[in-house]
Amino acid sequence: KMPAMDAIRARIRDVPDFPKKGIVFKDITPVLQDAATFKLTVDALADRWRGERIAKVVGIESRGFIFAAPLAYALGAGLTIVRKPGKLPWERISEAYALEYGQDALELHIDAIGPGDRVVVVDDLLATGGTAEAVGRLVARQGAQLCGYSFVVELAFLNGRRRLGSEQVSSLVTF
Ligand code: PRP
Ligand code: HPA
Repeated sequence: KMPAMDAIRARIRDVPDFPKKGIVFKDITPVLQDAATFKLTVDALADRWRGERIAKVVGIESRGFIFAAPLAYALGAGLTIVRKPGKLPWERISEAYALEYGQDALELHIDAIGPGDRVVVVDDLLATGGTAEAVGRLVARQGAQLCGYSFVVELAFLNGRRRLGSEQVSSLVTF
């Protein structure tokens, strides 16, 4: 359904010089604020994974959570949250990833996913792919089966798809 993707694209707002000069930030808040568009977006994410026996949807803090939770509900799957360091209370594993300047890390509870679990990793936006790649490593360390990555927005000029393995990536809107 191409009109659905057009409706989503029309509600992604360019914000120049955010969070710093020279970056044109893709703002997804208008997608969330419009009832019909938010529903279209979650439905389109779910359409990709229906019938694939997904056990867990893995959402990446923080904007990934917004889409991962309703997607998990729509699929009848569990929700697994990957968080920034120091946020998860239980026993956890950690993976570092490179930022433009310096590095950060993401964490996963060790009992969140396990061997053989079919999982999909979800985030609002794919840029360089460093964030999603780190989450892929967390999933692999727990022996779970990564069925793929789903994004609402893909910034194709940053080649994140190539980094993750193109066939593993699906996105609703590409810039
Ligand atoms: C943004 C976005 C992705 C990531 C994409 O998150 O939501 O998670 O960057 O970039 P990459 O593909 O180059 O790794 P951010 O770190 O800004 O966190 P937030 O969701 O908490 O705002
Ligand atoms: N928009 C939103 N999130 C982002 C972007 C962007 O352009 N780049 C990296 N994360």
